[in-house]
Amino acid sequence: MLRGFSVSGRVALFSAVLWGAFAARAEEVPYTAKEASRDGTGKVYLGREISQTVSSHAISWLERRDREAEERPTLVMENLGLKPDDVVADIGAGSGYFSLLLAPLVPQGRVLAVDIQQEMLDFIEGRKKLKQVRNVETILGTIEDTKLPEGQVDVVLMVDAYHEFSHPREMMLSIVKGLVPGGRVVFLEYRGEDPNVPIKPLHKMTVKQITREMASVGLRFVEVRDFLPIQHFLVFQKPAP
Ligand SMILES: C[S@@+](CC[C@H](N)C(=O)[O-])C[C@H]1O[C@@H](n2cnc3c(N)ncnc32)[C@H](O)[C@@H]1O
Repeated sequence: MLRGFSVSGRVALFSAVLWGAFAARAEEVPYTAKEASRDGTGKVYLGREISQTVSSHAISWLERRDREAEERPTLVMENLGLKPDDVVADIGAGSGYFSLLLAPLVPQGRVLAVDIQQEMLDFIEGRKKLKQVRNVETILGTIEDTKLPEGQVDVVLMVDAYHEFSHPREMMLSIVKGLVPGGRVVFLEYRGEDPNVPIKPLHKMTVKQITREMASVGLRFVEVRDFLPIQHFLVFQKPAP
């Protein structure tokens, strides 16, 4: 196939192919590395160091009794604007605290509870059985893939989870693929701009940073609403074609 090329021509062609593959890969993997800070992974995405993941041992913290008073999850539910037949995905669902609150709001729809820790999904299955909830499905995702059904999800909710995704870009591309056109992504993240929010810095996010990261995967900023005590309620949308 390369018979018509001189040796130098073949070298030039080989270099061009190699460089093309390298450039494509560099574009796909927009991460850099730094020395890990306390609570951080040392992996940097668009200027933000990714935090460490919360282990399944934190279930009791996620299920803590004073969470309603501290974070007002009931108020979150009232502000999501869900329709009874919506398909909602709770990504980084953890113990399913939010998945179980979402379930009665979509009686003709379903809640897809995605996590990468099987222990979390087992805990959710136990709670489903106990409370006889039938419209929550657990999905074991990977660090790069939510395993959401393509083009079927109306709303994605991520509570205190996105900042710890080890592969945020791949995760967001997978989420965008799972959304219907016009579908929404709602983030609850501790307010990074506020030094009085008593959470470790890498577990908080600023509006500017999330907006930058969402723009890079083609999501449109809709609004930020700060009606919660210590978290942002941020909404983005997948543009309709
Ligand atoms: C701090 S917990 C929050 C749990 C839940 N959203 C809540 O607020 O109660 C973050 C969860 O994200 C999960 N997680 C981390 N990376 C993930 C990924 N790439 N895909 C899905 N879940 C992930 C962790 O396993 C953990 O259960």
